[in-house]
Amino acid sequence: MADEIRNGYEQDDWQKHYDENDLAWDLGEVAQPFVRLWEDNLLMPGTLIVPGCGQGHEVIYFAERGFQVTGVDFSPGAVSLLQDSLKRKNLNAQVLHRNFFELEAKHDRAYDALLEQTFFCAIHPDQRPAYVETVSRILKPGGLLFGLFYETGEAGGPPFNTTEADVRNHFSEAFDFDRLEKCTFSSEQRKDKEWLAVMRKK
Ligand SMILES: C[S@@+](CC[C@H](N)C(=O)[O-])C[C@H]1O[C@@H](n2cnc3c(N)ncnc32)[C@H](O)[C@@H]1O
Repeated sequence: MADEIRNGYEQDDWQKHYDENDLAWDLGEVAQPFVRLWEDNLLMPGTLIVPGCGQGHEVIYFAERGFQVTGVDFSPGAVSLLQDSLKRKNLNAQVLHRNFFELEAKHDRAYDALLEQTFFCAIHPDQRPAYVETVSRILKPGGLLFGLFYETGEAGGPPFNTTEADVRNHFSEAFDFDRLEKCTFSSEQRKDKEWLAVMRKK
């Protein structure tokens, strides 16, 4: 455990959770704040990418609503759960078995929007600059990042604590903030611990 805290998780550590069906982070449904954003017409159909998508409740929800969705995860367990759900529901979405930070150049400026949920807190804090760099690279100019950032208030991780200042410090150079506020409609287990951000790539 001490090593995990120091170094974060490797791909094998994530896959082990899928092997053991130990998905404590999984809400079992699309995160409700994204439903609100959709109902408020802030999330408009287009190309949408979900990094570290897990079994992909967001991928499914937005594929059902006419978005061209791409889910990315480097754990084979996540990819096969999502592919099975898409098949069962007869839905189309692209599922990429990739390291998000190594997406090929064909993804550059390809996406209108990105959904962040429990991926930024899953990676080691040392990878945060690479996260911002990758997101900036793959979003179109003016592209939107809709994010739920998890303030665990605890040391170590994953999940690694993310404060409002962390979000501002990492994203301000490349993004303008349309919103950054405490989320008032989080799921019960994350109540008062999520920052809802809507950011626009400069
Ligand atoms: C805490 S889980 C969250 C899953 C999903 N977002 C959810 O909320 O249910 C983090 C996910 O990110 C994936 N992941 C971690 N690092 C990754 C990377 N560098 N590239 C792609 N996926 C990654 C893991 O395999 C895992 O499925």
